[in-house]
Amino acid sequence: MIKLGVNIDHIATIRQARKEDFPSVVQAAALCEKAGADSITVHLREDRRHIQDKDVYDLKESLRTKLNLEMAAGEEIIKIALDVKPDYACLVPEKRQELTTEGGLDVAGQQANLASIVERLKQAGIIVSMFIDADMEQVKACAEINADCVEIHTGKYAAYFKKFGGGSTEFENEYKRISEASAAAVESGLILNAGHGLDYKNLEKICQVPSMNEFNIGFAIVSESVFKGLEQAVKEMKEIINKNSGNEK
Ligand code: PXP
Repeated sequence: MIKLGVNIDHIATIRQARKEDFPSVVQAAALCEKAGADSITVHLREDRRHIQDKDVYDLKESLRTKLNLEMAAGEEIIKIALDVKPDYACLVPEKRQELTTEGGLDVAGQQANLASIVERLKQAGIIVSMFIDADMEQVKACAEINADCVEIHTGKYAAYFKKFGGGSTEFENEYKRISEASAAAVESGLILNAGHGLDYKNLEKICQVPSMNEFNIGFAIVSESVFKGLEQAVKEMKEIINKNSGNEK
C-alpha cells in the first residue's frame, strides 16, 4: 500500500498571517495522524515564511508517526536538522522569491557538496531523500551520492493534468517520464516517493507507478480542509490512494 505523508506548512501559513500562536501545527499533525497519515512533512524555509524552528522541535516530540523535514542544503538548516534528528530529511532547492519549490534539486551538478551533506545527515541516523525532476541523470547522481530515497517532482504532471486533461498526450508523456525515472530509481536501490501539486483529481494515475513508497501532499489537503475539516480531507486522500494502490500497470 502506498503511504501518505501530509505536508502541514500551510497550517503555519495561516498562523503566520497574524503572527498568532494558532492554529497549532501540533494539533493539526495529530488530526492528520488520526485520519491515517503515515508521516508529517514540514519545510523549514530559510525565510521562515510558515514553519518556524520551534514547530520542528515540537513536532519531533509530539508525532506518533514519522517526521519528514524538507530543507535546503544550507549550513544553518543542516545544523538544525542534525540537532532535531527528524526521521527523514528531503533536500530541496530553494529560492527566496518563489511561491513554492520550483523544479527539482540539481544533484548531478553539485554531487561532491551534496554527497558530504548526505553523509552528515545519515551519520545522525536520518534517512535522506532528494527532491528531483523525473530525469535519468539526476536519479543516477542520487544513487552515486548514496542517498536513501528520491522524491520525484510531480509539478509538471499536475500542471499538464489541469491544462490538457488526463488523457492528453502531454500528460501521458509526463507520466511515462515519471514511470521511467521511477523504475531507474528502484533499480538503483533508492526508495521511491513523489510529490508536489498532487490532488484529489490527479492522484489516481500516479498510484499505478510500481514500487511507489509514499506521496507527500500538502496544499490540496489543507485547502479542502477549509470546507470539510482536516481529518476528513486527509481521509478522502487516503481513500483514493488505498483504492488505487496495487493497480500497477
Ligand atoms: N514535496 C516537496 C519536496 C515540496 O516542496 C512540496 C511543497 O512544499 C510538496 C511535496 C507538497 O506539495 P503540495 O503542497 O503541492 O502538495
